[in-house]
Amino acid sequence: MKILVTGCAGFIGSHVIEALIARGDSIVGVDELNDYYDVRIKKKNLDVLKNNKNFAFYKEDIRNLKGLKKIFEKEKPEKVVHLAARAGVRPSIEQPLLYEEVNVKGTLHLLELAKEHKVKNFVFASSSSVYGNQKKIPFSETDDVNNPISPYAATKKAGELLCHAYHHLYNMKITCLRFFTVYGPRGRPDMAPYKFTKAIMNSQPIQKFGDGKTKRDYTYIADIVKGVIAAVDAELGYEIINLGNNKPVELNKFIEVIEKVTGKKAIIEQKPMQAGDVDITYANIRKAQKLLGYKPETSIEEGMQKFVEWFSKN
Ligand SMILES: NC(=O)c1ccc[n+]([C@@H]2O[C@H](COP(=O)([O-])OP(=O)(O)OC[C@H]3O[C@@H](n4cnc5c(N)ncnc54)[C@H](O)[C@@H]3O)[C@@H](O)[C@H]2O)c1
Repeated sequence: MKILVTGCAGFIGSHVIEALIARGDSIVGVDELNDYYDVRIKKKNLDVLKNNKNFAFYKEDIRNLKGLKKIFEKEKPEKVVHLAARAGVRPSIEQPLLYEEVNVKGTLHLLELAKEHKVKNFVFASSSSVYGNQKKIPFSETDDVNNPISPYAATKKAGELLCHAYHHLYNMKITCLRFFTVYGPRGRPDMAPYKFTKAIMNSQPIQKFGDGKTKRDYTYIADIVKGVIAAVDAELGYEIINLGNNKPVELNKFIEVIEKVTGKKAIIEQKPMQAGDVDITYANIRKAQKLLGYKPETSIEEGMQKFVEWFSKN
């Protein structure tokens, strides 16, 4: 199967592609290699994939419809996994227009081309952030998500809505996966697992936002990859599916886990809660279990152990 994956040099994209190539798929990767975080990290991610004959890389911006069109015409992908996005919550408050251009307009470009090329299945990376500060836990796909609390969350919700419109109008098969705080080897340097590990290992202070009682449903990358691949294969109609771990971890506990795994004590710099941050993320994963056979298997202790091993080597 020829699959076009956007955001191929990113954290989740590079892992998904490794797994797709390993089982024999042919991958067309698209990424603009922007400097949202150190571009050397993205190039290193690409190095893992580049030497494979079943991987073709295109350095392209998903805001450029003409450029994308050429790639679709040349490669004729059968399926699309659309992961490229501006991904941070806090930076989206600083640059909302950029987030709208990439996450909304960019997604629309891919939907248009997928429609024109009669792509068999389209998988879209949405986010747990669409649930906002909802009090009802765990979060279910049927919950009201009309109250995003950051531009990032609003753009992801907009992406889901556009996906629905394309499914409705053109009968396209589209699955929107709501990822919950993904971590693991090659993890993003702007996210807490990476930032905290780096600081603790280097005896630098970590910034703790709020009283440490906030919770995140940290989900290990290998579990996410299995969910994404199941969604690629499932070819459902239009579905929104949570991919989380279903075991939220308190920030204080998360810091303790890193201390245990690294054998070093955290130096804590106390900060107030940040605008746009939610109190808890907690995925109900029954729908993922039912439709995708999804079953996350990695505990936070095990996952952070693997992350720290990778971090130490890199
Ligand atoms: N990591 C998480 O915890 C998490 C949680 C929820 C949702 N998501 C979503 O999953 C997807 C992948 O996230 P990730 O953690 O791998 O992020 P990432 O930043 O590592 O990867 C995204 C990739 O997209 C590329 N990209 C960004 N804008 C682009 C553009 N205009 N044109 C072409 N390429 C562009 C970037 O260069 C990057 O390599 C994103 O859509 C993100 O919003 C991630």
